[in-house]
Amino acid sequence: MHLPCTYPEHGRFRDRHRFSHNHTSFGAMPQITAAGQTFSCPIGANLRRSLLDNNIDLHNGGSKLINCRGLGTCGTCAVQLQGEASPPNWREQQRLGFPPHRRDASTAKGLRLACQTQVLGDITVTKFEGFWGQADTIRWSPQQGPGELA
Ligand code: FES
Repeated sequence: MHLPCTYPEHGRFRDRHRFSHNHTSFGAMPQITAAGQTFSCPIGANLRRSLLDNNIDLHNGGSKLINCRGLGTCGTCAVQLQGEASPPNWREQQRLGFPPHRRDASTAKGLRLACQTQVLGDITVTKFEGFWGQADTIRWSPQQGPGELA
């Protein structure tokens, strides 16, 4: 049975009702684990906004100042995700296939653009080094913040 959704955020994210959103589990807030912190967010929340609102160091180095602010064009908010999130949209697929990102490497690593991703369930997030988060070395993991990795 599909009950009417009463969640205030859902008016802004009607798309997600088409995939994986299940009102039977309504009431549980998704948990995001990133850089040694765990916090919750509304279903459908924008991942970039959620990370920044919780003081997670999403953008590396100079990309803190020089980024597209969530338009999906700069590629500096790239993170590795595990868990339930919206599927990559065309903008995200294009940007992650454009240098210095490479489509094959991005796909292999499970990279996503945080600014184009809606959180639909519990997720863990890893950030890689590099201005665009495109390097192979990890900057922070779900359990460890920047500088805590051995
Ligand atoms: S902030 Fe620029 S692509 Fe996400």
